Amino acid sequence: MTRSNAPAYQTGFANHFATEAVDGALPVGRNSPQRPALGLYAEQLSGAAFTAPRDHNLRSWLYRLRPSAQHGPYQPFAQGRVRSGPFTETPPNPNRMRWDPLPMPDQPTDWVEGLTTYGGNGDADSGTGVGVHLYVANRSMVDRVFYSADGELLIVPQQAAQRFVTEMGVIEAAPGHIVVIPRGVRFRVEVDGEARGYVCENYGAPFRLPDLGPIGSNGLANPRDFETPVAAFEDVDRSTECVQKYGGQLWATTFDHSPLDVVAWHGNYAPYRYDTARFNTIGTVSFDHPDPSIFTVLTSPSDTPGTANCDFVIFPPRWMVAEDTFRPPWFHRNVMSEFMGLIFGEYDAKAGGFAPGGASLHNRMSGHGPDQASWDGATKADLKPHKIENTLAFMFETRMPIRTTAWAEQTPLMQLDYDDCWTGFEKGKV
Ligand SMILES: [Fe+2]
Repeated sequence: MTRSNAPAYQTGFANHFATEAVDGALPVGRNSPQRPALGLYAEQLSGAAFTAPRDHNLRSWLYRLRPSAQHGPYQPFAQGRVRSGPFTETPPNPNRMRWDPLPMPDQPTDWVEGLTTYGGNGDADSGTGVGVHLYVANRSMVDRVFYSADGELLIVPQQAAQRFVTEMGVIEAAPGHIVVIPRGVRFRVEVDGEARGYVCENYGAPFRLPDLGPIGSNGLANPRDFETPVAAFEDVDRSTECVQKYGGQLWATTFDHSPLDVVAWHGNYAPYRYDTARFNTIGTVSFDHPDPSIFTVLTSPSDTPGTANCDFVIFPPRWMVAEDTFRPPWFHRNVMSEFMGLIFGEYDAKAGGFAPGGASLHNRMSGHGPDQASWDGATKADLKPHKIENTLAFMFETRMPIRTTAWAEQTPLMQLDYDDCWTGFEKGKV
């Protein structure tokens, strides 16, 4: 039986939420009463050390039909194309890389089976770096749930609506949304047809909103636009496989029931979604354009101020009005490393070759920027106000170079002629 499963949301970023799917399930005034209501079991889910500073402390209390602890041993699960930091399959590779879209599978494939790691950096065990994955799925996960003990999952759907049935409620997402599932939270992905998307598995500090500095108290992603589901639970006495990613390996155990059985919960450690259409995009109204950090939605800080373990940055529809300015992204070499994806439309620095569902990687200090056709157009353009519409690209920008997996380097999806997009520039005339 499934109850209260119509998606409904509570708004705000990292609020201390309180939600119950059955009246009276949530204790009042304490977390762990001697006998929780309805015979439920209380469980604390800690996303930060007990002693983390108050403004970084993350935990929720869950009230469930059965304890999470009630399962047998985990056994190795088919690893497929999932890899994890430290990434040592290939030697460091300074080349610029771009991939065609990940194709849909010809066999029935769910979200876990369709997960493919392109690369990453750092080390999951030590809590630094990221893993970068894409996924394709043409069937829902059935009697199977997944969680990562290695990192928080920032999921960027690219094709088709997708439904994330989590321990803490149900999130519906479509291309344009992002979904963040905290480390350890179990979920199932349901799809209707062929679905695709990107995942940043964040081994480091959980994503938070960036500071706004002189922008002020509003702008970019506003806290009220983040949506966390209300409690919803399954009372299902059917064998359910639980796959976890732990130490880079996949493992599985079986519950004799659905572990998505949290009837009520409260706290600030919970999944959420965000509609990037609500991003308050800010840009120049004079000349030049700001650094792309102006498009940061979420940041995972490192221990070096201002130098992110990972920033999630979007390039949404926006007006271009700058005078005497080269308006597309400029040529660039960056100490940070840039993994990009495209949800829909066309990215304004690339006239072709970067397709929705594709990806590109520009690692530390590698020269990149507009391709020849984009540069040509932008330098000749009549600079009237112009709206970039019907496009959404994004970037995972991270402080350490991204090492690619063997699969990513050897797949025929790799565009071996990528360098050619920067050929043909005429020499400056001195
Ligand atoms: Fe760049």
